[in-house]
Amino acid sequence: MSIPTFGLGTFRLTGQAVIDSVKSALALGYRVIDTAQIYKNEAEVGQAIAESGVPRSELFITTKIWVDNYAADKLIPSLRDSLNKLRTDYVDLLLIHWPAPGNGVELREYMTALAEAKKLGLTRHIGVSNFNIELTRQAIDAVGEGEIATNQIELSPYLQNDKLTAYLKEQGITVTSYMTLAYGKVLKDPVLAEIAAKHKATVAQVALAWALQLGYAVIPSSTKRENLASNLLARGLKLDADDMARIATLERNGREVSPDGLAPAWD
Ligand SMILES: NC(=O)c1ccc[n+]([C@@H]2O[C@H](COP(=O)([O-])OP(=O)(O)OC[C@H]3O[C@@H](n4cnc5c(N)ncnc54)[C@H](OP(=O)(O)O)[C@@H]3O)[C@@H](O)[C@H]2O)c1
Repeated sequence: MSIPTFGLGTFRLTGQAVIDSVKSALALGYRVIDTAQIYKNEAEVGQAIAESGVPRSELFITTKIWVDNYAADKLIPSLRDSLNKLRTDYVDLLLIHWPAPGNGVELREYMTALAEAKKLGLTRHIGVSNFNIELTRQAIDAVGEGEIATNQIELSPYLQNDKLTAYLKEQGITVTSYMTLAYGKVLKDPVLAEIAAKHKATVAQVALAWALQLGYAVIPSSTKRENLASNLLARGLKLDADDMARIATLERNGREVSPDGLAPAWD
């Protein structure tokens, strides 16, 4: 089971901004797009893909089920609605967006519905997002070993998630790092700036290359074509052991996102 390692995020982008971002990214060679029901941009993402002319078979599209749609009778209908908006018959990866422990739907119920979506061919892969170790364990228990392709989690040089990533590696679950740039915060980091200067790279490229080198998938977003283009070049940047060791020291539990009622008890 392989999750492509370099994608485009679309959180916060709506209307023409998301259409422009997705079209620029596809023109630059991106083929992986991450959206979600709650981003309210699936229709625009679908429009941008259609207008780009890139064949569906070349694309890897991820969407995420929002917490209102976790009940067994809602999850698949909500996915069909997402597919209509995205103008496709299937997504490549379908995620549970947040564990939302208090929302009244048991984990086993929504994980079973997610697995059913895969059986119906509405998604190629399934996964979770923002799950801690214990909830990931329960999710594996609900759908079976080898079924969960990824856990998409906030992960940056300032929030390295060592315990959770070790567990996911052990389970063969790909880590997808979201907000690898900590929504821009790590771009001002002096250590990353030194490493970037040494490699004649940008700080964003260093942060992304660090995550890629650890074996994680990344999905940086940008509204700017030049940032989309330069971020993609992180794939060719090779950090050395000394760079990786220095970045490891930047950990500071720098979590940016932890919504009440949705987030788990973080590891
Ligand atoms: N599963 C979840 O709960 C969850 C939560 C949050 C995010 N996500 C996903 O992860 C994706 C990435 O997260 P994110 O978009 O919040 O944050 P991010 O990728 O860490 O950072 C995006 C920010 O960085 C800037 N940026 C990007 N490349 C840059 C560059 N080369 N130089 C300077 N600035 C740069 C962008 O500004 P410009 O537009 O000016 O370039 C934007 O403000 C989201 O879009 C979404 O798809 C998932």
